[in-house]
Amino acid sequence: MEDTPRGRPSRRQMLLGSAVAGWGAALALGTDAVASGATPTPPQPSPPEDAHGSVTIPFHGPHQAGIAIEPQARSTFLALDLLPATDRDGLRRLLRLLSDDAARLTQGRPALADSEPELAARPARLTVTFSVGPAVVALAGRAVPDWLAPLPPFGIDRLQEAWSGGDLVLEVASDDDLTLAHAVRMLLKDARAFATLRWVQAGFRHAHGSQPSGTTMRNLFGQKDGTVNLVPGTADFESLVWRTDGWLAGGSSLVIRRVAMDLDTWDELDRPGREASVGRTLATGAPLTGTAEHDEPDLEALDAVGFPVISDVAHLRRARSEDPTQRFFRRGYNYDDPPSAGAISNAGLIFTSYQADPVRQFVPIQQRLDELDLLNEWTTPIGSAVLAVLPGCAEGGYVGETLLV
Ligand code: HEM
Repeated sequence: MEDTPRGRPSRRQMLLGSAVAGWGAALALGTDAVASGATPTPPQPSPPEDAHGSVTIPFHGPHQAGIAIEPQARSTFLALDLLPATDRDGLRRLLRLLSDDAARLTQGRPALADSEPELAARPARLTVTFSVGPAVVALAGRAVPDWLAPLPPFGIDRLQEAWSGGDLVLEVASDDDLTLAHAVRMLLKDARAFATLRWVQAGFRHAHGSQPSGTTMRNLFGQKDGTVNLVPGTADFESLVWRTDGWLAGGSSLVIRRVAMDLDTWDELDRPGREASVGRTLATGAPLTGTAEHDEPDLEALDAVGFPVISDVAHLRRARSEDPTQRFFRRGYNYDDPPSAGAISNAGLIFTSYQADPVRQFVPIQQRLDELDLLNEWTTPIGSAVLAVLPGCAEGGYVGETLLV
């Protein structure tokens, strides 16, 4: 079995990890040997070109996989609506079936009755993360938490039903497009008897290997997006992202906002204007008051004529609160869909955020941005969903079992 408890590497990861460490050590040894004048080590073999395809992320554990990790290059969000005939037992069968598919596919094994088993062999960090809407919680016979409801309406919203809501949302992510397409198909085939597809949102970040891991992604405005964020593994992340109560213990909440970005009018803006809109430089993502990406912005700094260097209406200033509990883990995926006739782009950001409580943590920030944010000139929210992220499960269990016990 490839499955290992969360937080521990799978056998494949360990094999790959030690192999990579081996190459690193060999290279380091070689350099030392040269420096000391000893006989240099002979050239070492390079990592196999396809090594990344075998990397797996454990499916089982107290938290679902796919959240506290370096984001994969591709992510597809599938929103399903339960069929009227799907009752509580049907919901259990559905979640069991999809959990079994996910447990296999994410570890590089075909799903049961997989029609193309070869397409399951290269997971490339495939994860499947399950979230549910209020209808599923109610069907399970549980009280629906107050926060599990659409966000309050915002003046900037131009929401479309086609991109909003959903009973069950599966986020399927991988560094390999073909693997991802296959996993999506297998999951949808198995869900077909219980649910219909409501919407699909497919997003992308930089390809795996195109830049060092840990590099902040760029969005389609060319901005570094994700600089100031909660960091997996830190105490802040643990306390601000995960829930600790009842059937949701180990789970979280997920807000998905589909935000259209008008690249044509953005084109009309000069570079200083673009940088002023956020308060950061485009080249490095440094705040306009600093030189490196992670420099702390100086919100008091004034320019030669006495204006704030970081404008009062810059996205950076408006998106932060003095209340440290009003923070969340955000992860954007770009989308770039075919434009309609006469247009040359139909692009934007699938903005997602994870937080223990969206009403306390997310809504106040979205309200601030709704009131005032230079970026609103070029961005429009066109889809919105709030989901409960289910806790993870142990081997032999299924995602959603705490809801249905
Ligand atoms: C298309 C829409 C959006 C774009 C293009 C965008 C872009 C950016 C950029 C470039 C930054 C600065 C770099 C960074 O720290 O990540 C940033 C920061 C941030 N954004 Fe957005 N953003 C968008 C929507 C949103 C939304 C909807 C929210 C939440 C309601 C949000 C919340 C934040 C937060 C909390 C920060 C960090 C602020 C700080 O403490 O410095 N953004 N965004």
